[in-house]
Amino acid sequence: MVNFVLNGEVVRADDPSQTLLDFIRLQKGLTGTKEGCNEGDCGACTVQVAALEGGELVHRAVNSCILLLGQMQGKSVTTIEALGGNHPVQEAMVEHHGSQCGFCTPGIVMSLATAHREGRQDHADVLAGNLCRCTGYAPILRAAEAAAKAPVPEGPDEAALIRGLSGEGFTELDDFANWYAENPDAVLVGGATEVGLMLTKELKQPEKFAFLNRITALQNIEHEIGGMRIGAGVLLARLRGAMAGKYPQFAEMLRRFGSVQVRNSATIGGNIANGSPIADTPPALIALEASITLRKGDKRREILLEDFYLSYGVQDRAAGEFIESVFIPEQPDTLGVYKISKRFDQDISALCGAFNIAVHDGHVTKARIAFGGMAATPKRAKAVESALVGQPWSEATIDAAQAAFGQDYTPISDQRGSAEYRLTVAQNLLKRYFLEQTGTKRVRVVGGPS
Ligand SMILES: Cc1cc2nc3c(=O)[nH]c(=O)nc-3n(C[C@H](O)[C@H](O)[C@H](O)COP(=O)(O)OP(=O)(O)OC[C@H]3O[C@@H](n4cnc5c(N)ncnc54)[C@H](O)[C@@H]3O)c2cc1C
Ligand code: FES
Ligand code: FES
Repeated sequence: MVNFVLNGEVVRADDPSQTLLDFIRLQKGLTGTKEGCNEGDCGACTVQVAALEGGELVHRAVNSCILLLGQMQGKSVTTIEALGGNHPVQEAMVEHHGSQCGFCTPGIVMSLATAHREGRQDHADVLAGNLCRCTGYAPILRAAEAAAKAPVPEGPDEAALIRGLSGEGFTELDDFANWYAENPDAVLVGGATEVGLMLTKELKQPEKFAFLNRITALQNIEHEIGGMRIGAGVLLARLRGAMAGKYPQFAEMLRRFGSVQVRNSATIGGNIANGSPIADTPPALIALEASITLRKGDKRREILLEDFYLSYGVQDRAAGEFIESVFIPEQPDTLGVYKISKRFDQDISALCGAFNIAVHDGHVTKARIAFGGMAATPKRAKAVESALVGQPWSEATIDAAQAAFGQDYTPISDQRGSAEYRLTVAQNLLKRYFLEQTGTKRVRVVGGPS
């Protein structure tokens, strides 16, 4: 049984694997929330979810089509129906002609109403995950700007309602660790931005799920002696904030990871564990020499992230073992991260490269380079690194090292890019990194957007 708040009322649901979208439309008849793609891409199903994070009530826009009810325990959901028709964003959308056919409009209004509530002004980023096929975004952005000046309307006391909910599911890390060691066939659910698709697109019906999102011990970002430890359950939206001051290019890449709605659900643990060769956080983490802590019951082991990926779809993770945290060692920021995709926003990488090169007295003393989209797993470019270390930090060294990419990678050709394109872009990105690090202004290099 799952208990949560829906438009100010406590509701109970008995199937934790049902999607939130199906529940609100089919069980509750709240059909204002639309179903478009049913895979997290279009934003038609956007709703607002409020949760207590570190005691603070935080509102996030999420895609309800790939959220499972088990993730809603202890949260408060607001759908378009609860805005009532005269919310400042709705009035501004009317005034600025922000809607034509109207199919995308409830999702757009929920994204903008959440941004309005949280005081966000980056409206173009906020709308990256809301696809409007007919109005065009200029009137919608004008509406968002106009609404930003209005006060946030009063609503129900969501914090009190949430505190009054009886809790079920895992909240204690030790309880979950012991249970999972005994139930290794359970599907772990972080943000469900991968698991949700398993249900809606692959039509799989796993028997057991374990929802991790209420285990607060997995959600810490701690600055320890020697580095930063990030719990596996940390949302990518929060990770972006944590990276902004420390490794700005990592944060900038995260701005282009999915959309606001995806980053508000997806976790770092899910991105790593999923094992996709085009996952976007592993290249940056590997370049930063990150390690992960794997845990089974009360036994832990720490391995370098690069050693976690064994071959396509195979990771070094035993049955009943889960990722507990990621550790990034303290180091000066020399990180460059480049996501190359056909669209700037909300797109899967053709390749994603990360460079972390230390230079002392004009010579390269350390080089860590990793790519996604170039091999069957996220992978280091060890031949390129060897061609750099010990050499003068000069354009001649870079030009010579570019050839070594062919030893490290034999990329495939697919709809996102040919093998030749991928190799050329990787080589160009090394040059781009060099030019950026040596103080030349950001440059456009053939083969990738600036
Ligand atoms: C519209 C859309 C856009 C996307 N864009 C991007 C993108 O730009 N870049 C990118 O890299 N990915 C992208 N993704 C993929 C996905 O969002 C990410 O991989 C995300 O980080 C997965 O995290 P999650 O918490 O949602 O994982 P979940 O779906 O909850 O889990 C993914 C897998 O990891 C396992 N798992 C989860 N947590 C743990 C843990 N702690 N220990 C062990 N196993 C665990 C689950 O059992 C499952 O097998 C996108 C997905 C969608 C739907
Ligand atoms: S229906 Fe498209 S994101 Fe949910
Ligand atoms: S108004 Fe038709 S899809 Fe946006």
